Amino acid sequence: MIEITSSDAMQQFGEKLGHEVHGGDVIELIGDVGAGKTTLVKGIAKGMGVSDDVQSPSFTINRVYDAADGRVLSHYDFYRLSDPGIMATELHETMYRTDTITVIEWADAVERVLPEDRTTITISSPTETTRDVTIVASGPRSQRLVRQLG
Ligand SMILES: Nc1ncnc2c1ncn2[C@@H]1O[C@H](COP(=O)(O)OP(=O)(O)OP(=O)(O)O)[C@@H](O)[C@H]1O
Ligand SMILES: [Mg+2]
Repeated sequence: MIEITSSDAMQQFGEKLGHEVHGGDVIELIGDVGAGKTTLVKGIAKGMGVSDDVQSPSFTINRVYDAADGRVLSHYDFYRLSDPGIMATELHETMYRTDTITVIEWADAVERVLPEDRTTITISSPTETTRDVTIVASGPRSQRLVRQLG
């Protein structure tokens, strides 16, 4: 577990992740409203070389960003969506693209389509500015990513 004490530090942690991710990687983000999931994704995007500003996809469910090197960041947010419908199928297809890194907030409704091998990052907020971050890797691909984080 790592302790992150500011929004900037959360973005910096995301940047580190963004440097290490490979196409095909899937990252699930777990944490309450305001935990810092989207803040982390902003950092991942920066680390991947995405120049666009990352916006929360809460209403659109999915936003896609092109990185400078041909990698693609696909950011999903299934908040309060009990029936993901066609979006579950779309997510399933996205996750198996070899150029795409998929990051998902509020994945409860699509849990069944997530690959077993994924990186699960859980963020809790003991105080207004402190975040406890726990990372779990559940297969060789995600274990490699976590190892590279050092
Ligand atoms: N250490 C920290 N790490 C991340 N965010 C922090 C931290 N301290 C304060 N914050 C603040 O907490 C908020 C996190 O918001 P963010 O949109 O990233 O959360 P979220 O987990 O995506 O929420 P939602 O479930 O609504 O999508 C921001 O306002 C951010 O500035
Ligand atoms: Mg969010």
